[in-house]
Amino acid sequence: MSNTRLSEEQLNSIRSSVDIVDVISDYVQLKKQGRNYFGLCPFHGENTPSFSVSADKQIFHCFGCGAGGNVFTFLMDIEGYSFLEAAKDLAERGNIALDIQSPDTASQSPQQSASKKMIEAHELLTKFYHHLLANTKEGEPALHYLQERGFSKESIEKFSIGYSLNSWDFVQTFLGKRGFDDDILDQSGIIVSRDDGKRFDRFRNRVMFPIKDHHGDVVAFSGRALGNDEPKYLNSPETAIFNKSKLLFNFHQARAAIRKKQQAVLFEGFADVISSAEAGVDNGVATMGTSLTEEHLSILKRNCEEVLICYDSDNAGFEAANRAAEMIVKSGLTVKVAIMPDGLDPDEYIKKYGANSFMHDVIGDSHTYLSFKMKYLRKGRNMKNEGDRISYIEEVLKEIAKLPNAVEREHYLRQISSEFSLSMDALTEQQKTIFRSEKKRGNLPQTNHRNQVSGLALQYTQQKLHPAHINAELKLLAHMMQDKETAYKIRSLMDGNPFHIDEHQAIVTYLFGFYEENEESDISLFLSYIPDKQLRKVVSQIQMMSVSSEPSDQELKDYVGAVLKQQKMLKIKEKQDNQAEAIRMGDHILAAKIGLEIIQMKSQ
Ligand code: GTP
Ligand code: MN
Repeated sequence: MSNTRLSEEQLNSIRSSVDIVDVISDYVQLKKQGRNYFGLCPFHGENTPSFSVSADKQIFHCFGCGAGGNVFTFLMDIEGYSFLEAAKDLAERGNIALDIQSPDTASQSPQQSASKKMIEAHELLTKFYHHLLANTKEGEPALHYLQERGFSKESIEKFSIGYSLNSWDFVQTFLGKRGFDDDILDQSGIIVSRDDGKRFDRFRNRVMFPIKDHHGDVVAFSGRALGNDEPKYLNSPETAIFNKSKLLFNFHQARAAIRKKQQAVLFEGFADVISSAEAGVDNGVATMGTSLTEEHLSILKRNCEEVLICYDSDNAGFEAANRAAEMIVKSGLTVKVAIMPDGLDPDEYIKKYGANSFMHDVIGDSHTYLSFKMKYLRKGRNMKNEGDRISYIEEVLKEIAKLPNAVEREHYLRQISSEFSLSMDALTEQQKTIFRSEKKRGNLPQTNHRNQVSGLALQYTQQKLHPAHINAELKLLAHMMQDKETAYKIRSLMDGNPFHIDEHQAIVTYLFGFYEENEESDISLFLSYIPDKQLRKVVSQIQMMSVSSEPSDQELKDYVGAVLKQQKMLKIKEKQDNQAEAIRMGDHILAAKIGLEIIQMKSQ
């Protein structure tokens, strides 16, 4: 990390231009609790927040997995950036102009620079396709098609929709002339390279929808046929930059609204996202023609508490909604399901009934998970048939048993009770039996504790987990990192004795190196100074303890005393072992001598 080509000055202006809380908020939903912010750790799976961020110190730390560092190392860890890339990203966020000599191709792996090239090709092509659609004669039929479908000019701009020419090699030539290697174009899927060596443009005579990843970079395309050509949608293949099982269409643009509303609306098709955005849904996303994956879910889970499913209302859509709803509930998120009449999809509904009706009667009138489930379970059952009716009630009770909220459980039990004229007592008892057996079988969803700070985090902050001498070392380190003068004071009190824990001693060594070069304490800067990830974890953990800002001399002496006392105890223990050994060897004179030493040491 020391070999950056950024000056101290540049680094300082980057650091002071961004707030770690803002940067991390792009990835983790943070809630303020006391002086710090807490959220679910993005570096390991968890259901209770043990990830904390300190705005004062500009550092983060996870009490669960130990991850920790400053805003630079956060981006390096989460994005896989080099230090320089993290600096560039932050400079951009903070509006700091950076002119780094010779851009960072040298510091990038070949794969990283290939990915960058592939994104460049996609970005350039997006502009080109859009130009063809908006401004050329060749693009007129496509523009007409979109207008017929009701896409507004604003949507076409906002989603950078375009058109690909009806040509086998136009793109190949266009990008080739601009210096893109064949290899990059093949790898990116823009060009199809056949086994017989023939190469041609993948997308021809299609309406082009650029697919952006979660940073807003175009990483793929989906091309829709203008007429009834097959396939209806032609997608880019999976590449180093395009991973369907992780990507949610429109997530980049919707992220802010998703966090603000604490809700994401999930569609099946990206055309639905575009139409519904026009109707007023600003928190809509879609999977790219695949079913929902755990990876999609974990992205959503980091950003909101509720997912509203708005799938097509045909049979396939209903089944897919049921599968998605089950997965979402299982992950601990709340689910709502919007249902439309007549086998329509959202895009068609909006065209037929208008934006207002869509917002009120579909999105605004969505079902809770259980009321959706009841609808779903009725399907294929004849409720006039007694057997069907009983199996329906069984299934519904199973679902009710999964609800963590007693009021909700009662609400649905009453519904069933009145619909089927069954006593509440009998239903409640049956529901409890099911609950116990489902619990045993591990079939109940995780409860979501995202608003509670985990017990572990609290214990750590209160420092109850360590023996006295280690606790004392942690406190001393915290004071040393907080104030330069105190650090030197503690050093003289320690009188050349090392700390017990090797990691603590290593931190002390780095700290004095840091103080030799820097006027005052600066934790975030100090973290950049430590090359070792494990040590950074320890530093950030220590920083999350609270210590007094101006410790008294007595306080410091007490801590040092506790550390040194433990060292003496260890030495005494060693002497006692030696003494026992001497006695066993029959050397009573030596044993007596050692005994005297022990008495002297103890009396000190
Ligand atoms: P329109 O017919 O243009 O309104 O699209 P739609 O959104 O109604 O599409 P549909 O419900 O048929 O499909 C939903 C999603 O599945 C689309 O957004 C695509 O991602 C994907 N998809 C649909 N048809 C195809 C296809 O032929 N090939 C591939 N690869 N994906 C498709
Ligand atoms: Mn459609």
